[in-house]
Amino acid sequence: MKKVIYPGTFDPVTNGHIDIVKRAIELFDEVVVTVAKNPTKTCLFTVEERVEMLSECFREFSNVTVDWFDGLVVEHAKQLGAIGIIRGLRAVSDFEYEFQMALMNRNLADDITTILLMPHAKYTYLNSTIIRNLAQFKGDVSEFVPQVVEQRLKEKFSY
Ligand code: COA
Repeated sequence: MKKVIYPGTFDPVTNGHIDIVKRAIELFDEVVVTVAKNPTKTCLFTVEERVEMLSECFREFSNVTVDWFDGLVVEHAKQLGAIGIIRGLRAVSDFEYEFQMALMNRNLADDITTILLMPHAKYTYLNSTIIRNLAQFKGDVSEFVPQVVEQRLKEKFSY
C-alpha cells in the first residue's frame, strides 16, 4: 500500500493541481492532498475553506483524501505513513526552489522521497495568485479552476 502526500497552499486549488493529483493516483495507491497552514502567506481562503473545496473536487476519487497540516511536511508524512511527497514542476523556474526543499526534506527524513511531476503544458503558467487576481477583477476563471472554486471566488468577490 503506497501512500504519498501532496502538500501545498491551494489558495485556491486550480486545474493544474488537479492534473498533478490525477497523475499521482496512476502511480500510487493513495494520495493525501494536504493543505499547509502556512503563516508566511496571506491567504484569501481559510484552511477550512480550502479543505472543503479540495474535498468537493475529489469527492468521487476513493483513493484521494484531503486534510491539513501545521509544522514540518515530513512530520505529517510520517504520521500518515506516507512514503513520499508529491510536488508539481511547471517550469524551470520552479526547479531551484523544489530542489532545495526536496534536499532539506531528505535531510530531515531520509526515508521520505520527493517525487516531482509535470502537469500538462496548458497549466504551466497557472498559479493561485493569478486566479485570485483574475477573480478580484471579475475575470472569467472557469477555464482554470473547478466549478466549486469558481463559485467560491464569486462569493468572495461578490459577483
Ligand atoms: N498548478 C497550478 N499552480 C501550481 C501548481 C500546479 N500544478 N503547482 C504549484 N502551483 C502554484 C501554487 O498555486 C502556488 O501559487 P501562489 O504562490 O500564487 O499561491 C505556487 O505555485 C506555490 O505552490 P505551493 O504548492 O502552494 O507551494 P508553497 O510554496 O506555497 O508551499 C509547502 C510549499 C507548504 C508545501 C512548503 O512550504 C512546506 O512544506 N511547508 C511546511 C514547512 C516545511 O516542512 N518546510 C520544508 C522544509 S524547511
